[in-house]
Amino acid sequence: MSKIIVFSGSPRKDGCTSRLIEEAVKGARSKGAEVRIYDLNDEGIRGCQGCFYCRSHEGCSTEDYLQPMYEDLKNADGIILGSPIYFGQITGQAKQWLDRMFPMTDAAFRPRYPGKKAVTILAQGNGDRNMFQAGIQFINGVFSHFGWDLADSLLCCNTGSPDFKLSDELLKQAFAAGELLAE
Ligand SMILES: Cc1cc2nc3c(=O)[nH]c(=O)nc-3n(C[C@H](O)[C@H](O)[C@H](O)COP(=O)(O)O)c2cc1C
Repeated sequence: MSKIIVFSGSPRKDGCTSRLIEEAVKGARSKGAEVRIYDLNDEGIRGCQGCFYCRSHEGCSTEDYLQPMYEDLKNADGIILGSPIYFGQITGQAKQWLDRMFPMTDAAFRPRYPGKKAVTILAQGNGDRNMFQAGIQFINGVFSHFGWDLADSLLCCNTGSPDFKLSDELLKQAFAAGELLAE
């Protein structure tokens, strides 16, 4: 059975990011995957303390809500990160999580747990999908730095429009991305 770890970086439980994550999780579960979801808006999350423990040890010295993710990530086959675009970037919640992902590389910045598949799910108010590509390429690039293969990167645009509706096409893409991770 494959193991998929999901990181949900939107504070809105009924938002587009959450809805697309839900669909990707359904896709992964439809293929028999075991899924664990971390809510990056949880109050029990601390930012990276810059102690550099992870440069000489696996894992992280900070005991908080995210602590179990290090063991989960070691054994994971696939990772999903969902985040809205805030000021051209992933949300503060997702960035705080990303800092805590420093243990994904060793002291020489080599990937500690390479070969996993990853999917990013992003949502933005603006209708121009090229507008915030720098921010999107940043997060996708970090995953590649971790030695992970980007299986898909979804972008939901134009959520700020009064007649916005999440398209069936995007929902299907999210489901398929979940399936892909679980295969
Ligand atoms: C603090 C903040 C900053 C935002 N910055 C941007 C931005 O730079 N570009 C953009 O297109 N939309 C921006 N938005 C809009 C969100 O990306 C959009 O509402 C998105 O759909 C939120 O995702 P959600 O539906 O999963 O909550 C911003 C929203 C907030 C609250």
